[in-house]
Amino acid sequence: MEKKRSSFTGRIGFVFAAAGSAVGLGNLWRFPYLAAKYGGGIFLLSYVILAVTFGFALMLAEISIGRKTGKSAIEAYGSLNKKWGFLGKLTSIVPMIILPYYCVIGGWVIKYFVTFVSGQGKAAAEANFFTGFISKTGEPIVWLFVYIALTAVVVMLGVEKGIEKFSKVLMPVLVALSLGIAIYTLTLPGAGAGVKYYFMPDFDKFSVMTVLAALGQLFYSLSISMGILITYGSYMPKNTSIEKSVHQIELFDSGIAIIAGLMIVPSVFVFTGGNEDMLQAGAGLMFEMLPRIFSTIPLGNIIGVVFFLLVFFAALTSSISLMETVVSIIQDKIHIKRTTTCLIVVAGCTLFALPSTLGFGLWENIKIFGLNFLDFFDFISNSVIMPIVALLTCIFVGYVIKPKTLSEEIALTGKFKSEKIFTVIIKYIAPVCILAILISSVLNGLGVIKI
Ligand code: PHE
Repeated sequence: MEKKRSSFTGRIGFVFAAAGSAVGLGNLWRFPYLAAKYGGGIFLLSYVILAVTFGFALMLAEISIGRKTGKSAIEAYGSLNKKWGFLGKLTSIVPMIILPYYCVIGGWVIKYFVTFVSGQGKAAAEANFFTGFISKTGEPIVWLFVYIALTAVVVMLGVEKGIEKFSKVLMPVLVALSLGIAIYTLTLPGAGAGVKYYFMPDFDKFSVMTVLAALGQLFYSLSISMGILITYGSYMPKNTSIEKSVHQIELFDSGIAIIAGLMIVPSVFVFTGGNEDMLQAGAGLMFEMLPRIFSTIPLGNIIGVVFFLLVFFAALTSSISLMETVVSIIQDKIHIKRTTTCLIVVAGCTLFALPSTLGFGLWENIKIFGLNFLDFFDFISNSVIMPIVALLTCIFVGYVIKPKTLSEEIALTGKFKSEKIFTVIIKYIAPVCILAILISSVLNGLGVIKI
C-alpha cells in the first residue's frame, strides 16, 4: 500500500529542513581544517566556484528528481529508468560509510562540552589535551557510544519535529555566536596574517588535490550525492520554487562554513604564528584552536559551554538525518520492525566506528593508503564514491532522461532562469571535470603521477 507522502509547508519549511541537514560538522569542523590544510585562499576560491556551478546544478538535479518521482533515492533512479536502479543503491552506500565516523567526531564534541561544563576549559586549551584524549582507548569509545545512543533515541522516538523546531531557534544562535567569536578572533594580535592566508589565493599552493578536497567538501556539506536531497525533494510541494530554495540553502550553508573558517584559521596565526604543522593538523584543528580562543576571553568557559552545545546540536540534526536515511534504506529492503532496524544500525554503526576512533591510538600504525581509518573513510566517501555518484547522475540526467525532463519540473513554479547554465554544466562541464579530477587523484594515489 502506498503511504501518503507528508510534505513541507512551503519554501521556508523546505529550506529550513534542508539547511538543518546541511549545516553540521561539515561546516564547523571540516571546512576550516580543509581550508587551513589546502592553502587557505586558493581552497576558498575553488570551493566558491564549485558551489555556484557544480553544487548548484547537482542540487537542482537531485531535488527535482525527488519531486518529480515522489520517491527516495533507492527507488527514484529506477523509476525514471529501469536500467539505472543501481545508481540508487550506490548512492545509499554513502550515508552508511559516513555515519560511523561522524559519530566519532560527535563524541569528541560531547567530550569538549562536558570538559567546559565542569569548568576545565583552561585545561582543554593546553597543547596536548586533544591528542592525549583521542589517543586513549576507552574514553573516546564511551563518548562515541553516548553520541550514537542519543542519535538513535531521537530516530527511534521520531521526535524530528521537536528537533526541527529546536534547530530553528538554535541555528540563528549558532550563527550569531560564531560571528561574534570570529570578530573577536580578528581583534587578536597576529590575526591579520591569518585573514590574508584565508582570503588571498596563493596560486602556487594550487593542486588537483585542492580541487578534489573542495569538491568532496561541497558534496559533504550540502548533503549532495547521498540521496538525502532526493528524499527531501519528494516531500516538496509542487508550488514551491526549487531554484530559489537552492540559492537560499547554498547561501546559508556556505555562509556558515566561511564564518567558521574565519573563526578558526586566523587563530592558528594568533596562537602559533601560522605554524605549518598546525595548519596541516586536519581533523583536530577545531578542537585545538577554539579552547585557546576561549581561554583568552573573560567568561570564556561559559562561552565554551554554549558553543560546544550548539555544535553538538548542529551535529545531532545531521547525524539524525544520516541515521534516518540508513534506517529507511534497510527498512525498504527487509521489512522488519523499526525498533529492530534501529538496533541493528546502532550495532553496525558502533562496530564500524571503532576502527576510526582506535586509529588515533591503539591502531595508529595501521594505515590505508597512508591514511588513518577515519581519514580513509572520509576520503573514500567524499572524494571517491560521491564524485562517482555525481558523475553518473550527470550522465543520467544529461543523456538518459535529458535535462529537459527536470527543467520542466523546475519550471512548474515559473521561469527557470538558469536553465541554459544548468544544462551545459550537467551535460558537459561537470562530467568532464569530475572525471579529470577523479582520474588524476587515483593516479596520484597509485604513485603514477605527482600532483
Ligand atoms: N551536511 C552535513 C554536514 O555538513 C553532513 C551530512 C551529510 C548530514 C549527509 C546529513 C547527510 O555536517
